[in-house]
Amino acid sequence: MSNDSFQARILHWYRLNGRDLPWRHTRDPYAIWLSEVILQQTRIDQGRDYWQRFVHRWPRVGDLAAASEDEVLLMWQGLGYYSRARNLLAAARQVVAMGGFPADFKGLKALKGVGDYTAAAIASIAFGRPVATVDGNVYRVLSRHYGIDTPIDTTAGRKTFAALAQSLLPVDQAAAFNQAMMDFGATCCTPRSPRCSQCPLEDTCEALHSHRVDQLPAKLKS
Ligand code: ADE
Repeated sequence: MSNDSFQARILHWYRLNGRDLPWRHTRDPYAIWLSEVILQQTRIDQGRDYWQRFVHRWPRVGDLAAASEDEVLLMWQGLGYYSRARNLLAAARQVVAMGGFPADFKGLKALKGVGDYTAAAIASIAFGRPVATVDGNVYRVLSRHYGIDTPIDTTAGRKTFAALAQSLLPVDQAAAFNQAMMDFGATCCTPRSPRCSQCPLEDTCEALHSHRVDQLPAKLKS
């Protein structure tokens, strides 16, 4: 098994253990964008219900764009960070004005409320573009597996991990790889009590071998 690359093992793990989430049954950029904006500051269990309600009430981006801000805020109630709801409506109207969703990272980033992570997620998941998503899960998995102790709250750290994630990304499986990293970080390589004995990367994990799992990822400020 350890002859297989990091990518091959993560992808294999994902095929067996990936979470069955409703937005993973579609390639519709609208539905995927909605899921990513909802999940920016919301746990999956709660986000899933809201996502269902949004796509049921406004099945296409044009439906959402035609809604009033009050209607969107009402639907958003309970999720907090209400600027996200306002940005959501503004972005839906941008998309309609453009005649559809931009299909690449740069175009997606120009939408209100869409930052690097969200743009990379939509570009890869909805459009198959080879852009790596980089979030806390990715920092944790990569810093541990490759034994990198560059602090993640520094410019050097952010650059190092973004470049590594991008270099590992299989260009023809960007959606699966990015979502595999999310799920693997969320359920196996967890912040506390990671499930190392069940980990498919156990034999090549630098942090495990040097007893640094609980010290990585490193941070300048705790
Ligand atoms: N968190 C943010 N985006 C996600 C996604 N697409 N799947 C699972 N968790 C996520």
